[in-house]
Order: sequence, then structure tokens, then C-alpha cells
Amino acid sequence: MKALAGKRLSALFSTVRYKLRHDGVIEVLRLLISKFHALYEQRPTHAPNTFDGEFGTDTEEIVPLWKLDIDSPYLKDGIRYQAVDAKPLRTAIEALPIHPQEFAYVDLGSGKGRSLLVASEYPFKRVLGIEFSEELHNIAAENIRRYKNPKQKCENVVSICADAAAYAFPPENTVVFLYNPFGETVLSRVLENLEISLRRGGWDLYIVYCNPVLAPLLDKEAFLKRMELPVSAAVYSNLR
Ligand SMILES: C[S@@+](CC[C@H](N)C(=O)[O-])C[C@H]1O[C@@H](n2cnc3c(N)ncnc32)[C@H](O)[C@@H]1O
Repeated sequence: MKALAGKRLSALFSTVRYKLRHDGVIEVLRLLISKFHALYEQRPTHAPNTFDGEFGTDTEEIVPLWKLDIDSPYLKDGIRYQAVDAKPLRTAIEALPIHPQEFAYVDLGSGKGRSLLVASEYPFKRVLGIEFSEELHNIAAENIRRYKNPKQKCENVVSICADAAAYAFPPENTVVFLYNPFGETVLSRVLENLEISLRRGGWDLYIVYCNPVLAPLLDKEAFLKRMELPVSAAVYSNLR
């Protein structure tokens, strides 16, 4: 590794010497800037048996919210970024009694977008992520662009930088995904927004809630019914 870095450095010095002699200082500066830019752009490499290693993405690293510049009155209620495990999410999606073609998938607190990418393995009408950190949202957008999976069935995958508390649900069949993204204040807001939209009618709702630390909040909602499914997530539906 060290020998390789040494070889690269001495090759760079040779190129710089050559360019100085033939092209002048401006060209050398251009070259150095492009080299530094390429270095900065380099993304971490991941082991082949991990999600990121398999799909060429960057989702793994945990990010505490204090490290991010987030402009939201609900910042305090937010939970740090941590990617969901793909396997239990697939199991939960496959256990739902739905045709994904008839549903949108919406991840509230979508972070770097791993759940969006997993959901895109199913033929959902569209897959949408709502993330309030611009930095995480930008990484998600790049992950969506880079994602390479021959099993991908939904190409309409979008991350939006917005607050989940303010998301107004349109009247379309929706699977809402939550991976313990926020506390009681935002979750209550989200439940209110869901109820308002459901009261207007015309759509069906399923909620897949992984690491459901606030499940009691959903359990007591009259418009939701907890489903008995052999999965680790808590799953709810508005259907009676
Ligand atoms: C535990 S991570 C889940 C990441 C992603 N859903 C996944 O499963 O890979 C929680 C995410 O919710 C985001 N979040 C927290 N509060 C939010 C809010 N009010 N609006 C939008 N995003 C929020 C955090 O920034 C973080 O990225």
C-alpha cells in the first residue's frame, strides 16, 4: 500500500516537473487542483458482502444529528442517521397483503436512502424519501444515481429534503416506512396528517415501523389496526 502511494507520488512529481518545463505554472496548478478534487471526490470502499459493497452505494456510516446543519424546529426530536438492515425490510414488504404496483412507498426520515433502494426492488408505483438533513438528502440522491441492482423494479425513486412533520399525504395507496426516525412530537404530527388525509378518503395505508419504540402511540390510534404478521417490524393498516 505504502509502496503504491510512493510510486503514485513520484509519478505525480515527474508530471509536475514535465508540465512546469513545457506548459507553465498555470497548467501545473490546474493539474494539482484536478488531482485534489479527484481525491476529495473519492468515496469509501466497502467490503463486497455488505449492502454498499454489493450495490456501489454509501449508506453504512452512522451520523449523529449534531454533526449536521439542520434547519428545523423539530431537530431535537430527530434520531441519528443509521441505515436499516435490508433483510428484515424485505421480509416486511413481502409480508404485506398488497400488489406493490398499486402503492407508493414513502420513507419518513430516509437518511442516505438505503430503505428507498431496498423498496425499489419491488414494483412500487413510486418510492419517495423525506429527509430533513440536506447533507444526508444529497448523499441519498447520489446513492439513487449510483445504485446498480439488476433486481431493481421501480425506477421512480426520489429523495426530498423536507420535514416529515409537514408532509401532507396525497390520496394514493401508500406504504409508509419508519425506522425509528423521530420522537413523539413529530410522530404525533405525522399521525394527524395521515388521519386528515385518510378522512378525505380514496386511499389505503400500511405502516411498516422498524424498531418500533413508540408503537404504543400507534396502537391507540382508532384509525389504525395493528396486523398480526410474522415479521420483526410493527405493521399497521387503516383497513378494517
Ligand atoms: C434511524 S435513521 C433512518 C434512516 C432510513 N430510514 C433507513 O432506514 O435507512 C432516521 C433518519 O430520520 C431523519 N429525521 C429525523 N427527524 C426528521 C424529520 N422531522 N423530518 C425528516 N427527517 C427526519 C434523520 O435525519 C435520520 O436520517
